[in-house]
Amino acid sequence: MKRTEAQRSALMMRMARILSGLFLLAFVTSHLLNLSLGVISIEAMDNARPVLTGIWSNPVVGPILLLALIVHFILGLWSIYRRPTLQTNLQDSVQIVTGLLVIPLMATHVVGAASLGINGVNFNYAVATKFFWLDQPQIGLLQVILLSIVWIHGCAGLFTWLRSREDMRSILGWLYPVAVAVPVMALMGYAEAGRGVLIDAQEARTSAPSYSENAPQTATRTPPIIPYKVVKEVTNQIIWWSLGLAALTLAAREVRVRLHPFEHVQLKRGDCAPIATTSKLTVFDSFRIGNQPHAGLCEGRGRCGTCAVRILASEFPLPQPTALEIKTLSRIGADEDTRLACQLTPSGGSVEVEPLYPADYSFKDKDITETAQPGTQPELQT
Ligand code: FES
Repeated sequence: MKRTEAQRSALMMRMARILSGLFLLAFVTSHLLNLSLGVISIEAMDNARPVLTGIWSNPVVGPILLLALIVHFILGLWSIYRRPTLQTNLQDSVQIVTGLLVIPLMATHVVGAASLGINGVNFNYAVATKFFWLDQPQIGLLQVILLSIVWIHGCAGLFTWLRSREDMRSILGWLYPVAVAVPVMALMGYAEAGRGVLIDAQEARTSAPSYSENAPQTATRTPPIIPYKVVKEVTNQIIWWSLGLAALTLAAREVRVRLHPFEHVQLKRGDCAPIATTSKLTVFDSFRIGNQPHAGLCEGRGRCGTCAVRILASEFPLPQPTALEIKTLSRIGADEDTRLACQLTPSGGSVEVEPLYPADYSFKDKDITETAQPGTQPELQT
């Protein structure tokens, strides 16, 4: 099928968002895995560092990572701007909010790590753990919160993407336990490494007047190329700019929705030509107005179940089914990705469906259970 220019650019943006998201998720996963080695020792963390986290500061990978972060953030804002509604399910809401917080929270880590590299400081886990547990525990806590938020955002995005791919849904069952295990192991590693540092510091205090007297002397340090004040200023600028962009996007979206109260919907099924409709109409009405016959023995009352469609793809989350729709779907034994065309009003974007019953279906048909996936034959209830 030939795609329009708008469809091609939408597809390219979606691919760029998925690829940049996967790249960032790989970055976070490698950091969490490196942290989890803290349950063995800080030395084990540092031994694995060149492979797990060191590669991200490589002169080639580092700029790609930065580009992925910017691209993912900008495309995320664009997706929020285009959303017909922000009233959505819990997973989607979590993904939106955590996505807006990724750059503000990552700014401290990214700018800090970059400035240390430029200043020639070898900030390994032995130094970092002492810094985060003894010198700046609030920054250490921020790093843990950051990793958790980025991880939650990444997993929510990954699961949403995999669920939309029929050929990859089977691996979801394996990924759910991994999604929980990785951050838990990382937190255990971080806590265990910190515990060791605190014990060492306590022992040093009991055998000497104070920890600070045993701390490495810094008086002979050469002045940093990038002073701490500049690092802090750059970090604050990134945080405020990203939060400002997020606020601007939400405001622009509000204006757009108020100016155009009804959203455009692109409805597609099989090889039929796509129907351009609006968020005012149900899928059932859109097919009928678009002269594409569709089964519906109760004429859209939500009772017969013969208008059921399987949702193959939806650009935006669909509205939750009403009690009547749930009851009918349950009676016909529908899968969770099945909806009643006569009750479903997409809020906007493109939606692709597959009818479960032939357009000319009648209750006299004998082969309904072979034609349709639901396990029970529909019945007309008055
Ligand atoms: S037309 Fe009967 S349930 Fe939709």
